Order: sequence, then structure tokens, then C-alpha cells
Amino acid sequence: MKFFADTADTAEIAELAATGLLDGVTTNPSLIAKAGRDIMEVTREICGLTRGPVSAEVVALDHAGMMREAEVLRKIAENVCIKVPLTIDGLKTCKALTGEGTMVNVTLCFSANQALLAAKAGASFISPFVGRHDDNGFDGMQLISDIRLIYDNYSFQTEILVASIRHGIHVLESAKIGADVITAPPAVIKGLFKHVLTDKGIEGFLADWAKTGQSI
Ligand code: E4P
Repeated sequence: MKFFADTADTAEIAELAATGLLDGVTTNPSLIAKAGRDIMEVTREICGLTRGPVSAEVVALDHAGMMREAEVLRKIAENVCIKVPLTIDGLKTCKALTGEGTMVNVTLCFSANQALLAAKAGASFISPFVGRHDDNGFDGMQLISDIRLIYDNYSFQTEILVASIRHGIHVLESAKIGADVITAPPAVIKGLFKHVLTDKGIEGFLADWAKTGQSI
């Protein structure tokens, strides 16, 4: 399973990239606003921090506008993946862009039928938002299972990119279901490395090692 960082904070991305375990980055208009930086400048910098796909989202709502914005964004770097919303115009744009060999991430997916349409439109990635689904009284992980089943039934190549991840259980369940990618805030990814018994174990080993008076 691939790990993407869901942020436009370049310091956080650089830190995760240094682990060698980061496979890409997703941004959205809210994350760009939070970073407080120019979209072109920050996206270019992010593209230099990872060789994997970097999702940059269009904000136009009509097909022509999305194509215009995609044209600007995809020139930033070769690893830019254009993010479009799951609307009729968004999928029309997805079909056109993937036909030209541009990676497309279809975002704001909240149903398996929407995911089916995105796959038919040739999406490189489908982004079902599990956290927001849960927040609204639905079962986010059931949505991922349903999409996995449908994509496997028809051998769709669209990668399931689990988005709106809130905690480690979302990551674990995504892996068990066989999702292709998760995108999560850096804090959630960093939390995956941690376990209280790992810390306690290190403490115990170091205490015992000190008693030996040896060094390696
Ligand atoms: C996905 O690409 C989105 O950027 C993101 O996962 C949304 O997450 P949120 O619901 O925490 O805003």
C-alpha cells in the first residue's frame, strides 16, 4: 500500500520523505490556504520533494474552466496529478486529461456508484473520504470495501486512494481491505511508527546495556 501525505506543509513533507516511505502527496484548496503560500510556488516545491504523484486541485466548476486550470497546473512538474471533483464536469475533464496521458485524482467521492463512474472515466485515483463519511453517520470503511469489490469485479486499474483519514485504524482497515493508497495528515502517519511498548522496550534494553559497560 502506498502512503501519501495529505498536506501542503513542505517541512512536514520533507521530514516524511526522508524516511524513504513516502510515495506521494495530496493537496486541496483548504490545505493550500492553510499553508498560506502561492499554489504554483508551493506545488513546485512539493513536486521536488517526492518523485510520486502530487495532487493539485482545480477550483473551476465547469469543464472548460477545469481544462484551463489543469493546463496551468500540469506544467508545474511531470509528477503533478490533476485533482477534479466528482461531478459531471469533473469526470468529463478526467476523461479528457487521462486521454492526454495526464494523471487524474477524482476527489470528494462518497458513494460506490460515484467510484464506478470515475473508473469508467479513466481516473488514475479515486479519493473516497472516509472521515467525512463517518462524521455524517455513514460507514467510511464499508465504502472502501464496496469500491474494492466493484473494481476487482471489472479489473478497473483506477487506484483506490483512501482520503480524509483521521487515525491509524483507518489506515489498518484500508490495508486489510486492499486499498491501493492512503493519504493522511503527517501527524497520523508519524503516529503509525509509535507504540508505547516499543518505547518501554528500548528503555529497558538501554538500562540493561548500560550495566554491561560495553560500547559497539
Ligand atoms: C484528500 O485528498 C483530501 O485532501 C483530504 O483527505 C480531505 O480530508 P479532510 O476531511 O480531513 O479535510
